[in-house]
Amino acid sequence: MSFTLPPSPPARPNRCQLFGPGSRTALFPKMAASAADVINLDLEDSVAPGDKPQARANIIEAINTIDWGNKTLSVRINGLDTPFWYRDVVEVLEQAGERIDIIMIPKAGNAKDIYAVDALVSAIESAHGRAKRIGFEVIIETAAGFAHAEEIAAASPRMQAMSLGAADFAASMGMATTGIGGTQANYYMLPPGDAETRHYADPWHGVTAAIVAACRTHGLLPVDGPFGDFSDDAGYIAQARRAATMGMVGKWAIHPKQVALANEVFTPSEEAVTEAREILAAMKQAEAEGQGAAVYKGRLIDIASARQAKVIVDTAELIAG
Ligand code: COA
Ligand code: MG
Repeated sequence: MSFTLPPSPPARPNRCQLFGPGSRTALFPKMAASAADVINLDLEDSVAPGDKPQARANIIEAINTIDWGNKTLSVRINGLDTPFWYRDVVEVLEQAGERIDIIMIPKAGNAKDIYAVDALVSAIESAHGRAKRIGFEVIIETAAGFAHAEEIAAASPRMQAMSLGAADFAASMGMATTGIGGTQANYYMLPPGDAETRHYADPWHGVTAAIVAACRTHGLLPVDGPFGDFSDDAGYIAQARRAATMGMVGKWAIHPKQVALANEVFTPSEEAVTEAREILAAMKQAEAEGQGAAVYKGRLIDIASARQAKVIVDTAELIAG
């Protein structure tokens, strides 16, 4: 371990973030009743430009009147390149009560973007005597966001989470795709000497690793973003499992049927938790016997295995608690 210890991420479950357009008020009570850990009320790309003022009013009303239970409640504002974002922040934070937890900043490109929103939010909090400090989450969905993921993660003590936005990311990078996340038909490899059998690699791997590293360095939650084809459960689960394997803690749902899929993938299974506890117990015994390594089910385990096992046990306890 470096002499600089990484801070811990916020201790709250973030297995699924359910989105809904701020213009579709009928969805709000259904979102509140869902099994998602985080709710994202959207003012950005699911709301038409002419509907922005009404969507702000809808969201303020919903924050103030709907029972959101113990969910984390987030509002996605418009990008800093639009004329909408400052009114999103001003109206929501001046008129919504203390129930809102987080503002989501889309298309974050560098630390200055976060600084700008931080300055505005800080002024409103102070002017209105808001008691609870608003947190930030961002979407990495541009080439600049990928290039500057680390400085963005470090940009403010308000920062809590970072999501990958595959569709805008693909557009910004000039990727030849139209699907929102998941397997891409033309991103494949062929086994040596075999021109027929395609192996589909993961075009999101690089940016996913950058987000996880930035988040784990600065104590944020790394989250996989949307999977657009909500008729393809198997594709969603495969994408979510890749993200979980790489260290992400959750995934967005853009349709309610995706919530259960995310919760399933990002809740450690009973078998995984049992195995992790057994590894911890085996390592404890090895340590008592003066050994740094041991054998568990015919394979080597050592102190690093105990750290891996602890991640699984800690996650399970966080979700249960
Ligand atoms: N949250 C909660 N409930 C939702 C929902 C959501 N995001 N989207 C749909 N539902 C509800 C519908 O109201 C319907 O409820 P009912 O059974 O009581 O009638 C049920 O789930 C089935 O919905 P369905 O008819 O399949 O979907 P739709 O055609 O109404 O809407 C979308 C499909 C994709 C347009 C809609 O899910 C949506 O707007 N998703 C979020 C988009 C978004 O926020 N994008 C920004 C982030 S990328
Ligand atoms: Mg986007």
